[in-house]
Amino acid sequence: MYSDLLASWQQSLQADLSVIEKKNRKRFLRVNGGRLDFASNDYLSLNSSGVIKELLKARLAAWSNSIGSTGSRLLRGHHEAFEQAEAAFQTFVQSESALLFHSGYAANVGVLQTLLSAKDTVFCDRSCHASILDGIRISGAQKYYFDHNDLDHLKSVLKKRPARGQAWLITESVFSMDGDSPEMETLVAIAEESGLLIYLDEAHAIGVKGETGNGLACERKLQDRIAVRVFPCGKAPGLMGAFVCGPRILKESLINRCRSFIFSTSQPPLLAAVLGDVIGLLPGLTKERSHLEKIADRLRAGLQARTLNSGPSTSHIVPLILGSEDRAMNWMQNLQDRGIDVRAIRPPSVAEGSSRLRINLQAGHSVADVELLLKELYTIAETETK
Ligand SMILES: Cc1ncc(COP(=O)(O)O)c(C=O)c1O
Repeated sequence: MYSDLLASWQQSLQADLSVIEKKNRKRFLRVNGGRLDFASNDYLSLNSSGVIKELLKARLAAWSNSIGSTGSRLLRGHHEAFEQAEAAFQTFVQSESALLFHSGYAANVGVLQTLLSAKDTVFCDRSCHASILDGIRISGAQKYYFDHNDLDHLKSVLKKRPARGQAWLITESVFSMDGDSPEMETLVAIAEESGLLIYLDEAHAIGVKGETGNGLACERKLQDRIAVRVFPCGKAPGLMGAFVCGPRILKESLINRCRSFIFSTSQPPLLAAVLGDVIGLLPGLTKERSHLEKIADRLRAGLQARTLNSGPSTSHIVPLILGSEDRAMNWMQNLQDRGIDVRAIRPPSVAEGSSRLRINLQAGHSVADVELLLKELYTIAETETK
């Protein structure tokens, strides 16, 4: 009977969830509930300050196009707003071309699947985002991981593991869980010596790194030596989507080959128009960027003063590494009860034994907000040791 089939399917889902539950890793959706927000990726506070809302209102007032894109980009879903946003973005990050995807996940999975094949080899930082790992897996390329940001380890992996086909070096410019960056000049030099093309995800750097907010590659003037740069726009730019940047031929190739681009409805063109407006604002947000640096330094110093472990962070993302999953969950709940929204990150998102709180600083945080967070963290630490 069909009802038996449905029931046994649901039991198998339940059995799978029980395994997660036994490991104390069951996830729940949790709203912010008006708490002081150290959890969102709104690094420049473009959402919390109302800037995005104002840009959206202004665009909507003059909008005569449809709201939904009504198709995939290759069919009826292509609109002028996409072309304008792409043109603005490629100039901003000094690239020959930019192609807008509807999310960073779709960009990484689709682009890597398109560029790599089972004949190729990838050398990838162990801490890269799931969308990158999924893209590599789907491509079937031979993959070797090197320890997070450890370029000596990368060199030794390169010696031991000769590449077949085209070899790629894949990494991120600011890592989402550690808030640190690779030594970019050395990384590029190693890649060039070893014949590797570089693929760089700038999700947590766009808007924040670089004099004009155009990312870490531009900050270090390395943009011309990196084959592909991916810029998801759901973090500091405050919206959604991701620009994939590289030579003109890359864009043409993706339009023709990339499955996540071809077989999916594009994002609402209205949002692409607002994204174009945001790109225009980013260079002017220098005060916001230096304030972020200042409060991040203060937070790290405050944590270190009480021997709380902020890991290798050098950016606006500051982890508080607590070790066990239970401990991270307890600290998170404790902060939530005190009106502060910080989220715990547990395996498999981070390595076993390195569960943590991921503290995301935003330009709209005042020094007093950071002091309040530190005060609450000290209190939790003290109660724990009693
Ligand atoms: C490094 C990195 N790349 C890609 C993504 C996915 O981007 P999106 O949220 O736009 O799908 C994320 C999201 O957290 C990320 O941290």
